[in-house]
Amino acid sequence: RNNKLYCTDAKGSIVLRKAILNMLNMEIGLSAELDNICILRGSQMGLFLAARLLIEENDSIVVEQLSSPIVRETFKNCGANLLYVAHNESGILLESLEKLCINHPVRAIYVTPHHQMPTGAVMSIDNRKGLLKLAQRYNFVIIEDGSGSEFSYTKDNLRPLIQLDKSGRVIYISSFSKILASGFRVGYMVAPTTVIKHCASDITLIDRQGNALLEHAVAELLESGEIKRHITKSIKIYQARKTHLTHLIESELAEFCTLSSSNSGLGLWIDLAPHIQTDLILKDAEKQKLKLYYINQYSEHCQVSGLRLGFAHLNLDEITLAVEYLKNTFMYQSAIVLRA
Ligand SMILES: Cc1ncc(COP(=O)(O)O)c(C=O)c1O
Repeated sequence: RNNKLYCTDAKGSIVLRKAILNMLNMEIGLSAELDNICILRGSQMGLFLAARLLIEENDSIVVEQLSSPIVRETFKNCGANLLYVAHNESGILLESLEKLCINHPVRAIYVTPHHQMPTGAVMSIDNRKGLLKLAQRYNFVIIEDGSGSEFSYTKDNLRPLIQLDKSGRVIYISSFSKILASGFRVGYMVAPTTVIKHCASDITLIDRQGNALLEHAVAELLESGEIKRHITKSIKIYQARKTHLTHLIESELAEFCTLSSSNSGLGLWIDLAPHIQTDLILKDAEKQKLKLYYINQYSEHCQVSGLRLGFAHLNLDEITLAVEYLKNTFMYQSAIVLRA
């Protein structure tokens, strides 16, 4: 009816682009035009399109020392030479990044400022401003992944880089995967018009246009306020799960690990004590009925001595059980160390 499902614009349906811009304006004070946004099938697609647009063979792209394996693979697939920058609880070590920029012509950096993936560190406002200054000084692009940035447990949710940026160097990608479900393949990119134009051309080659039916449905959920209400409700539930997991880590696992503080996101990071060997944990955990993912995949060039514990998909009882299994795993390893 009214040709609503006849979408000819590779940038995606106008109703959804308008609804998302409206949401970004209300939530983070971002004012952008319709030509600054295109609809994607999730942030991963945006990452791939940005990588394809930016990277020529052997261009240097910076990622954090600990980072998502799929992100690194996407850049490598497009021919990037990956460089790694150290990071701490406030964000990226800017001096280290500057050194990289002096030694290599850095094309872009990928970051998740609201919740470092995987440690959960929130990039401080000074770190954000410092990163933007370096981007201007050394002429590189910032790919900001805002997926899940809605889940902040403090009042002072910091403004994203795209909102602070004055020089058009930030490509912001996000999606509804963490708000609704990853099966809703709807995401978006906000960027300068030239970037959006290029991405729209690539989208035409991939699938001509987006999924008009789904896009209209998500637009309706946004416009009716349903998504906003759902986020508010989810944050309360996730906050309770996070608090529960925090208490259990502190009371049950203190001798095996230390918890990194985080005020956002859907997971907590623990640094493991030296006697816990990450490379043995997977097998030991399986013996304790615990399935762990991604260990050691967060870094290719250094041993990772920590774990990311996702809590959003577990209720309080399940979290208690998971911590019990994890404790058994750690105790099993400790017993082996004592016997050795
Ligand atoms: C850092 C990060 N960005 C984005 C996503 C979501 O990707 P998509 O929007 O393609 O589902 C995930 C998924 O867990 C993620 O960990």
